[in-house]
Amino acid sequence: MQAQKIRYKAVIFDLDGVLVHTDEYHYLAWKQLCDLRKIPFNRTVNDLLRGVSRKESLEIILSRAHVNLSEAEKESFLAEKNAVYRKFLEQMTPEDVGQKVRNTLRTLRERGKKLAVGSSSKNTKFILAQVGLEKFFDAVSDGTNITRTKPDPEVFLKAAQMLGVENGCCLVVEDAVSGVLAAEAAHMDCAAMGDAARHHRATYDIEHLSMLKDIVL
Ligand code: BG6
Ligand code: MG
Repeated sequence: MQAQKIRYKAVIFDLDGVLVHTDEYHYLAWKQLCDLRKIPFNRTVNDLLRGVSRKESLEIILSRAHVNLSEAEKESFLAEKNAVYRKFLEQMTPEDVGQKVRNTLRTLRERGKKLAVGSSSKNTKFILAQVGLEKFFDAVSDGTNITRTKPDPEVFLKAAQMLGVENGCCLVVEDAVSGVLAAEAAHMDCAAMGDAARHHRATYDIEHLSMLKDIVL
């Protein structure tokens, strides 16, 4: 997509894999539980889960592995996965967020931009508190206030609504292909990093969040 000359008023950040490295903890938790159940799981499958809700993620894992589970088995799988994942989260501290990330958020706020988180995770507020990032955000739209997961645009539309900013003046920052597609569906520009950047669907590809300082002026 061609970058347009937009004066962004707000930036909506994905959480896992963008603000914090919890995407690796999602991978480790799924891997541990799939290994226990002898269900094939690798990083390629893991990339398909980026931006996708916990429940949908399990459906993707099972369908890729051609495994059928009862509803009760799925429920206990999901509860165990979240318990393992939460153990990783409990170890997190403000040290888990680099100075460059904090400086970028501070600069954007100093420029008068509104900042929000737009994540499918139901652990969003817990993670933000663990790493001490809450104070940077005017709004948090997450897995607890949406009914449809990315690539549906709901999470970003709700974030823009909470901020009171028109969709076209928001920039989304994403590491998931599902998130880039969600931004597109919300008529928002998108800066992609990591896995999402490799798919070349976004308005901008960035290597690090600090590159936003040259985009959001
Ligand atoms: C997204 C992650 O941010 O949140 C997905 O990219 C994850 O991998 C989803 O499945 C749901 O997270 P949680 O914390 O509610 O299990
Ligand atoms: Mg992500």
